[in-house]
Amino acid sequence: MGKDVIVACDFASGAETLAFLDRFGDERPFVKIGMELYYAEGPDIVRILKERGHRIFLDLKLHDIPNTVQKAMRVLSRLDVDMTNVHAAGTRAMMEAALDGLTRPDGTRPLLIAVTQLTSTGEEAMRGELLIDRPLPEVVAAYAKNARDAGLDGVVCSPLEAGTIHEVCGAEFFTVTPGVRFADAAKDDQTRIATPERAKSLGSDFIVVGRPITQAADPAAAYRRCVTEFVD
Ligand code: C5P
Repeated sequence: MGKDVIVACDFASGAETLAFLDRFGDERPFVKIGMELYYAEGPDIVRILKERGHRIFLDLKLHDIPNTVQKAMRVLSRLDVDMTNVHAAGTRAMMEAALDGLTRPDGTRPLLIAVTQLTSTGEEAMRGELLIDRPLPEVVAAYAKNARDAGLDGVVCSPLEAGTIHEVCGAEFFTVTPGVRFADAAKDDQTRIATPERAKSLGSDFIVVGRPITQAADPAAAYRRCVTEFVD
């Protein structure tokens, strides 16, 4: 699978998103639609961006009982997104149900990936609140393995975890990694970060980049810089 840069469209409205994407001219980057934009605009924003020719990662992180997730995924499968996701904490049974729901009658389906542990969850919260006593990297690797065993295509993780996940789950199981920053830029609230170039050398398959592109004076130029460093 080819490496690619996914632009996180973390905007509160469709109008803002379209104005932002207009700045890319004829270029049609792979985009991520998260909860904020999806809950504001509903499925129409997916249809509009699809019509414009974008590939879409619908980042809704489903986590519920298997039957509910299966039915929700069946609805999402009709939206023709390219990638979507669930929480691995929902168990293998839930991930299998998600995969089943996402598979269209003709056998095609979007890529399905899992969130292992959110990068906002530290080891302290994991131990004290979730009562998980193992070291974080071990938990991330085990959840990734559950996702692979359930038939999923990959996981969302830090670029710094991409190598371990490929070792545990195989080179074909792909890693989608946020937490990307240019060497000369602000970290914002991200902690475990890597430059696009380093993410590439660590084995990330897709990088998800938000503020370094959305807040740039020239978003298209920032996007191309990511592509040059990560893909070319
Ligand atoms: O602006 P920034 O580049 O930090 O945006 C990263 C994107 O990736 C955001 O949409 C954020 O919600 C998402 N994300 C993340 N860490 C995760 C999962 C998703 O930063 N573990």
